[in-house]
Amino acid sequence: MPPLTSPSSSKPVLAVLDGVRVDPPPVWLMRQAGRFLPEYRALRARAASFMQLAYDPEMATEATLQPIRRFGFDAAILFSDILVVPDAMNCQVSFVEGEGPRLPAIEAPDGLSRLAGEIDLDRLAPVFEAISLVKAALPPGCALLGFCGAPFTVACYMIAGRSTSDLAPARLFAYRHPLAFAELIERLARASIAYLLRQFKAGAEAVQIFESFASAVPHPFLEPWSLGPMRRIVEGVRAIIPDARVIVFARGCGAKTADVAAATRANAVGIDWTVDPTGMRGQAPGLPLQGNLDPLALAAGGAAMRRAVRSVMSGFGDRPHIFNLGHGVVPETPVGHVEEMLRMVRGGVWTERNASSP
Ligand code: CP3
Repeated sequence: MPPLTSPSSSKPVLAVLDGVRVDPPPVWLMRQAGRFLPEYRALRARAASFMQLAYDPEMATEATLQPIRRFGFDAAILFSDILVVPDAMNCQVSFVEGEGPRLPAIEAPDGLSRLAGEIDLDRLAPVFEAISLVKAALPPGCALLGFCGAPFTVACYMIAGRSTSDLAPARLFAYRHPLAFAELIERLARASIAYLLRQFKAGAEAVQIFESFASAVPHPFLEPWSLGPMRRIVEGVRAIIPDARVIVFARGCGAKTADVAAATRANAVGIDWTVDPTGMRGQAPGLPLQGNLDPLALAAGGAAMRRAVRSVMSGFGDRPHIFNLGHGVVPETPVGHVEEMLRMVRGGVWTERNASSP
């Protein structure tokens, strides 16, 4: 077990990313700024659209800070969306109420000609302004996280033009048009490097790359479509900011966590809820992990939630760990369940002995 040395950073999340085990572990939740919070729903009602909210620096700042004020999480994640990248590459994004994102589908290779050659960082200026405003308002100890989508996940939306259940349009496109697909992935990787660098410059202290669709990547293509492009993003960012901290969340890659870390050079790997935390013991010792409470266990609450929280605490307790969900908070999650979960996590170390109590 790594020693409980004094954190290399006074911010616990950053200390964990630097490889230090912090006890109790710092906590934040994916999608912590969102519809499960009444104050977010009130803010959202004042904006004409989701994109308007995301591109309004004051409103985006407010949405970012709401969960920090209410729960005192150890990290704030910028309120924005992974789809602002295609939006700033000339693929206008909108969100249809109750259905999800819409953008012009890239149905054939010539669809790439519509894309801007470079990401328009001026269009994203409100995002960088929000980062600076949040940074100035955060309590000490709370880290500010930026993010982007991984190229494969973002490409899935750009090719289909919307959410799809099995990513069939993107996988078909990749088989039919491998060169055009590789070019799209490469352009997204380049755009993401520029975007993340500006986020760091504006005040982000670490970033998370969301590969939400890693589980849909056919196995021979995990490296060329997913891990390789994420590594190029990490290396591209570190070419300018050598100590840039990066978390990679590759949903569906739990069994390959050590490979994901080695291939992408990430400081930490986010683990989805399907992974047994106990099974992670002894795997990639010392590698910081983030996760992995099932968002639906949090939504359900009660004994099921308490059991799941204890399992996460004990499974990851021997290594640097950031407590988080295994995917985003669902809108129906009662605020009281989050409060109870936080009391448990902050209550201290969960040894084998107290992990088995009711
Ligand atoms: O985590 C946070 O609190 C920060 C903000 C954030 C949002 N989206 C806000 C949002 C982050 C980090 C994201 C990432 C994101 N967006 C991902 C990767 C993580 C994941 O969930 O897998 C993906 C795939 C998207 C794309 C996206 N954005 C979809 C499919 C949808 C519609 C589905 C839905 O949940 O409504 C969104 C919209 C969105 N992004 C909302 C929020 C709070 C809800 C829309 C609203 O409030 O009107």
